[in-house]
Amino acid sequence: MARGDFSATIMSLTKPAKLHLIDAWIHQERADLTQDSNNPPQLDQDQRHQGVLGRFAAEIASGQVEVHRSLSHLKAASFPDRYFDWIYVDADHSYDGVTGDLEAYFPKIKPDGLILGHDYSWHGKVNFGVVEAVNDFISRHRLDFLAINTGDTFPSYVLARRGSSLGHKFLGKATFSIPCVVELRDYPNGYKFSQRTVSADGRRRGFLSFGPTAGADGYVSPQGSASS
Ligand SMILES: C[S@@+](CC[C@H](N)C(=O)[O-])C[C@H]1O[C@@H](n2cnc3c(N)ncnc32)[C@H](O)[C@@H]1O
Repeated sequence: MARGDFSATIMSLTKPAKLHLIDAWIHQERADLTQDSNNPPQLDQDQRHQGVLGRFAAEIASGQVEVHRSLSHLKAASFPDRYFDWIYVDADHSYDGVTGDLEAYFPKIKPDGLILGHDYSWHGKVNFGVVEAVNDFISRHRLDFLAINTGDTFPSYVLARRGSSLGHKFLGKATFSIPCVVELRDYPNGYKFSQRTVSADGRRRGFLSFGPTAGADGYVSPQGSASS
């Protein structure tokens, strides 16, 4: 959630009947988070929380939005099984953090639901384990990796159970609204994902790379997928 910027985008684009927003807004004393701009001092975290309550005051009053100040994996138990149409994970980016959130919310999603999250990538300063955690989660539950957005240094991912009709609908909408769609069948089996860069005319640009080996010139340490 942080300041609620992406939550506001979700609200305006998806117009959900109900949206649960979860953030602990606690400063965590962890060596791997010292350079994480989303782990600011506690006073800033308190201000971010207050800011979100103000930003969504009307929606909170109407019952459309509920804000939960909690560690995300612990909050999962308070929701019934098969409750959510979709979830979007963007909290603790360590391997254990992402795995904990995905496993805690998996039973809480409708069988046809979607599992989305941010930062399918690595970070130069913060220890991200998102790629490895998501790939292992897919293998454990035999999920489909439906999509990744390529225009972002920190891409979002979309997963669904095999044969999900909501997943099929999502892919249909994406294919008709996005100019270039490429299918990587059975990803991540046999693939190594890397983030690579290209320079031309004094400009530098990142792009996503998929192949049998990891790309050599990733701008953050390229790593292979944990499941291949
Ligand atoms: C990258 S930010 C989220 C940004 C948000 N999606 C946006 O774009 O507006 C990550 C947030 O997760 C929160 N966070 C980190 N670990 C958490 C955990 N275990 N449980 C709940 N929130 C956590 C942090 O307080 C931070 O606000």
